[in-house]
Amino acid sequence: MRIGFFDSGIGGITVLHQALQLLPNEDYIFYADTVHLPYGEKPKEEVKDYIFNAVDFIAAQGVKAQVIACNTATSIAIEELREKYDFPILGIEPAVKPAVQKWELNRKKVLVLATNLTLKEEKFNNLVKRLDHQDIVDCLALPGLVEFAEKYEFNEEQVIGYLKDELSRFELCQYGTVVLGCTHFPYFTNELIKLFPENTDFISGSVGTAKNLKRILEANDQLDHGTGDIIFYKSGFRVEDKETIDQYQKLLGMLDGLST
Ligand code: SIN
Repeated sequence: MRIGFFDSGIGGITVLHQALQLLPNEDYIFYADTVHLPYGEKPKEEVKDYIFNAVDFIAAQGVKAQVIACNTATSIAIEELREKYDFPILGIEPAVKPAVQKWELNRKKVLVLATNLTLKEEKFNNLVKRLDHQDIVDCLALPGLVEFAEKYEFNEEQVIGYLKDELSRFELCQYGTVVLGCTHFPYFTNELIKLFPENTDFISGSVGTAKNLKRILEANDQLDHGTGDIIFYKSGFRVEDKETIDQYQKLLGMLDGLST
């Protein structure tokens, strides 16, 4: 049986990429709800409907586990999803814990980059409250990066201008760790690295999610002997055209060269 991956768009490919490194002998479904993105700027209840429709669709194809490869969807719906479906549902959270732990080593602050909806959610705010005893975590919503990513613009002048503008009110030398709290953001790691001081760490939750997935499949004795085959869907339709499939595969290749 396949493993399902779901996101509003191409962000989830950054998580799928980690899974493919750890679990190359599995087969996958990747579902992007491109008709309804961006999730991070829409009302929560509306986004919840999109998420349940998508996961219903994926469940109907038959999956042994489902990864919600979207920080926004995880923060607003993961508990309800787990109540509804009888296969394991894994989410992705901003990697605040390892980021805060680095304070002990470098005495530098943490900047969390995510969508507005993720940053507003109780789940995220409780996480920060629980872990940030030194008041070292700052946050910044970067919805523009989701739009750029969906246009396949990763290092164009307008992307760099947007990042410089948004970051201009922060004293970047204060930060030792930047948390990429949206699955669309790892595509911009190379540009972010140029803007922050040397030795700044950039971390996302995708490695943790992929490790959890492996642990659960092992525990359930559900590891397979597949080939890393991926069936792509966009908002309820199978992607058949070679150009789009090639674009997705190209993104996976591009992520091979990035550090997160
Ligand atoms: C978005 O659709 O706004 C991005 C969602 C996410 O990965 O957090």
